[in-house]
Amino acid sequence: MTKPIYILNGPNLNLLGTRQTPIYGAATLADLDARTSARAKGAGFATVFRQTNREGELVDWIQEARERASAVIVNAAAYSHTSIAILDALLAVDLPVVEVHLSNIHRRETFRHHSYVSAAADGVIVGLGAQGYELAVDAAVALVQSRAAKAP
Ligand code: DQA
Repeated sequence: MTKPIYILNGPNLNLLGTRQTPIYGAATLADLDARTSARAKGAGFATVFRQTNREGELVDWIQEARERASAVIVNAAAYSHTSIAILDALLAVDLPVVEVHLSNIHRRETFRHHSYVSAAADGVIVGLGAQGYELAVDAAVALVQSRAAKAP
């Protein structure tokens, strides 16, 4: 059976829909879960969609994904800019990794311009809001399919 795509969300993303909506949009985390699940289903994939405010829990889930996922989509939120632990966990994952941010981090404060996660990502989607999550699913599916096509 095809393994699911893990979609892992970091701190404060539980507040989506009420938090700084001019920056992050009106979609809630539940909306993102529903939209990504439907998008993945159309391509024959299930999703595992989670959010945590804890860095170590994100690390645990990334480690879990090594065995149980076909790809990882990650919005590590503020930990993107600070966490070498999350980078190291992602570097240990031999699967497609797509980084996503709702906002365009490059148009915001300079401390958001650098993401440790990017060094472990096959691709990065920023600034497209909730649609970016759907595009991340499309990218993850394409990366999984292209790896399968190359496999011996
Ligand atoms: C974010 C951007 C981060 O800089 C910020 O800390 C977040 C959300 C985004 O999705 O735009 O919490 O990852």
